[in-house]
Amino acid sequence: MADGARQAVILAGGQGTRLRPLTLARAKPVVPLLNHPFLAYQLALLRAHGVSDVVLACSYRVDDVREALGDGARLGVRLRYVVEDEPLGTGGGVRHAADLASGTLFVLNGDILTDADLTAMRHLHEAHGSRTTIFLQPVDDPRQFGLVETGADGRLLRFREKPTAEEKITTNTINGGIYLIEAPLLARIPRDRPSSIEREFFPALIAEGIPAYGWCPRTYWRDLGNPVAYRAGHVDLLEGRANMPLSPPGERHDGSWIGVGASVADGAHVVAPSVVGAGAVLARDCRVGPATVVGDGARVGAGARVEGAVLWERVEVGAGAVLDRCVVGADVKIGAHARVGPEVVLESGAVVPEGATLAR
Ligand code: GTP
Repeated sequence: MADGARQAVILAGGQGTRLRPLTLARAKPVVPLLNHPFLAYQLALLRAHGVSDVVLACSYRVDDVREALGDGARLGVRLRYVVEDEPLGTGGGVRHAADLASGTLFVLNGDILTDADLTAMRHLHEAHGSRTTIFLQPVDDPRQFGLVETGADGRLLRFREKPTAEEKITTNTINGGIYLIEAPLLARIPRDRPSSIEREFFPALIAEGIPAYGWCPRTYWRDLGNPVAYRAGHVDLLEGRANMPLSPPGERHDGSWIGVGASVADGAHVVAPSVVGAGAVLARDCRVGPATVVGDGARVGAGARVEGAVLWERVEVGAGAVLDRCVVGADVKIGAHARVGPEVVLESGAVVPEGATLAR
């Protein structure tokens, strides 16, 4: 295998507006996913494909990212941070980070969950003599995404941002948010003004005839950019739909993962597949799962029911409360016998009164 593409830049500076209110209190790239910071999955994937030198292009809430990932040593990678004073968009973010990079680079959007075979992507890039290769994915509803058209040989022909209902569309492949780029090309991106890699950089390469190809494997892929997708990503991983090189923290018991120091009282049930965080406390006769994540240090009261839900750290669920397919931010307190319904998202620190019912 050639030596190319041993470095990566991860775009991790967006405000994550679609994932609000969760991203008001935490940067999107490090929101928890099965009790690991999200980017730990991307870093594990990169590492599994021989990439251990990673630059994080940050802006919004960079301290969250540093606190969660540090220098990367725990994850077996070397992490460096470049921080924009003002957000420079996806183009400017990569340009800023490119000063620390050379050769062929992986560039990733920091909200893509995939188990894609990056080694195969690198091989395709090299075999075609490509200068930029884009990971494409087929989707059922392409109109809400940026479409990418390719020729029969995979060469990129056109980028089209969110076509209107009247416009005829000729492809269902979209930009999957992972790229291989020859670093010298990044000098084309203006250094100090906001720009978009999708709307400006790639279309300009195509217009100038620079070899650029699409790679469209059959693989697991999900953009975790909004709360529904974020929760669905948890369910996918719990139900084994992706082959990730990172397991949830904790020890495996009856198809679930139980974190260090967690306590499960007599009569409490953890229904697989679920994850119970380190130091979490499950009181008697509660039922957690299936497809549920209880964050580190969270507490679930006696007789409570939590199903298909994602609870961040230190959430307190009162006795007899019922949580169904919702997402609950850190330190939320849910009163006894309250009910929280499907796809409700509770901001970190929220308080739900005893007996309240929340539905979307
Ligand atoms: P929304 O506001 O919900 O669209 O989310 P977002 O801010 O993350 O934007 P989007 O999903 O389009 O961004 C794609 C990737 O680029 C994400 O990983 C973002 O973190 C990242 N990103 C977006 N804008 C910037 C920026 O100005 N600077 C840097 N460094 N990264 C960015």
